[in-house]
Amino acid sequence: MPGTRPTLLVAVLLLLLPLVACGDEDRVDDELVRSSPAPGETPVGTSAATPSGADADAAGANATAAASTSTPAPPTATPNADGVYIVACHDFLVPLDKVHRLEADCAPNALVSVPDVYAYGAQEVVEGVLPDLLALLKAASEAGHLVAVVSSYRSYETQRNTFEYHVNEFGLQEALRVSARPGHSEHQLGTTVDFSSTTVGYELVEAFGSTPEGLWLAEHAHEYGFILSYPEGKEVVTGYAYEPWHFRWIGRELAAEVRASGLTLGQFLLR
Ligand code: DAL
Ligand code: ZN
Repeated sequence: MPGTRPTLLVAVLLLLLPLVACGDEDRVDDELVRSSPAPGETPVGTSAATPSGADADAAGANATAAASTSTPAPPTATPNADGVYIVACHDFLVPLDKVHRLEADCAPNALVSVPDVYAYGAQEVVEGVLPDLLALLKAASEAGHLVAVVSSYRSYETQRNTFEYHVNEFGLQEALRVSARPGHSEHQLGTTVDFSSTTVGYELVEAFGSTPEGLWLAEHAHEYGFILSYPEGKEVVTGYAYEPWHFRWIGRELAAEVRASGLTLGQFLLR
């Protein structure tokens, strides 16, 4: 596993082609490494101001089903011929891994923008996730850690482009360790974000886990309902390499339970 994923302008350009073709639903992909803000982009993480959208309705969108004590919905009883289970759309607690996926047309009902002050490029999450996300980012800021969201909701099509990029760049075997096939990504839920910071040039690299920002997130994100999906040393369990930036929101109560359980999020959702 390479410690970093190279910054490649050509990769960005490759992704821009399908973005143009797919319209504005698709946006900046994660797992693509961006070394610095593009000219004209609003610098992120440079202000501790509380965004005005912080009072977004916590009962909105997918999170309406987010009674934090609810039991994860079971996947379909039998897998498809390819051994993959289709999981329910609009259930924010479904397992998503190599053998559980969403339908291609599954998309969140209500997406809202992450305020620019906390976003590296345009970022969207499910409405009900925003209050906890902003609370986390504000708490990080108050602790002296300027953290930005560098990837968030990704449609099935965007994930297809992302996965194909990794296959083309690194080969199928490596792509499968670092990128989900379309339908299999937690980003399609709209509840999952990738964080980074200026310390690592807003890149998505393993080194982020050792930065003050990454360490703070590892210690505190669960207090705001976010769980690190792919912890270090758990690749044999999760199927993915360590991603210290990738956090999925499941609500504060369940996140506390996951943390106390010692299980990976995937194990917890399938327990
Ligand atoms: N990088 C994670 C596995 C994703 O593509 O969703
Ligand atoms: Zn991610």
